[in-house]
Amino acid sequence: MATVIDGKAVAAEVIETVKNASQTLQTETGVTPGIAVVIVGEDPASQVYVASKGRKARECGFHSVEHTLPESTSEADLLRLVEDLNNDPSIHGILVQLPLPSHIDESLVIQKISPEKDVDGFHVINTGKLTVGDIDEAFVSCTPAGSMLLIERVRGGDLSGLNAIVIGRSNIVGKPMASLLLAANATVTVGHSRTPDLPAACRNADIVVAAVGRPEMVKKDWIKPGATIIDVGINRIPAPERGEGKTRLVGDVAYEECSEVAGAITPVPGGVGPMTIAMLMANTVVSAYRAAG
Ligand code: GUN
Repeated sequence: MATVIDGKAVAAEVIETVKNASQTLQTETGVTPGIAVVIVGEDPASQVYVASKGRKARECGFHSVEHTLPESTSEADLLRLVEDLNNDPSIHGILVQLPLPSHIDESLVIQKISPEKDVDGFHVINTGKLTVGDIDEAFVSCTPAGSMLLIERVRGGDLSGLNAIVIGRSNIVGKPMASLLLAANATVTVGHSRTPDLPAACRNADIVVAAVGRPEMVKKDWIKPGATIIDVGINRIPAPERGEGKTRLVGDVAYEECSEVAGAITPVPGGVGPMTIAMLMANTVVSAYRAAG
């Protein structure tokens, strides 16, 4: 049976390091790391994420502000708020929660965030730095950065000689994940909905990162024995066995059956999820150190 990769425990270690770094920065320079989280509209999942980001920021000793704007907010007003936050010296990290309402151009808003405060790592300056291998200079998108940390725990930092597949090609996870794996010398395949034989491509992989948002899509017979599986998916599905109307969370990987062949696997929940917020806090404290010189 596969080793279960405990994302909660690794995330707690990261948070401990961030807390200490934040404390040291305050003592030595008087600078308190500051993060601003902006949410537009009433998407319930986004509200949960934003609340937990605020909680974690306060736990790290950060100055944390939340801007909750109505669904009807204009693009121009949102751009003005981002501009104000760019110019606010008490703020080192700006996060605009996605998705935004359809009348707002997401890309325009993201590119408005100062790259120095883009702790989500979504700005083209940061994705560009990552793509050219300037990883220490870039803010790296938090979910891939957290996934990479978990991979390093299992396989070490140098992945030379290993095949990796990233299933999914989103700008937030799939593409930056592929860049990180490549920078670690893995041989990387990016699979997606138009890949002719995804199971066959997956069976070649020593490392599988699933980020497609399809419940339990990756099956046991896709997995090379001993492979490391990182499951980024968080899908809520009906669970009638728990009672009428009940649901449960599953990943993009059929966890039970894949555990029988994999070497190591992240659970859902408790795998990649906690790492995302931890890496956001890490990026914010790094940004505050840079601002403090
Ligand atoms: N929506 C879902 N995940 C994320 C994330 O990591 N950052 C932002 N800003 N929005 C999201």
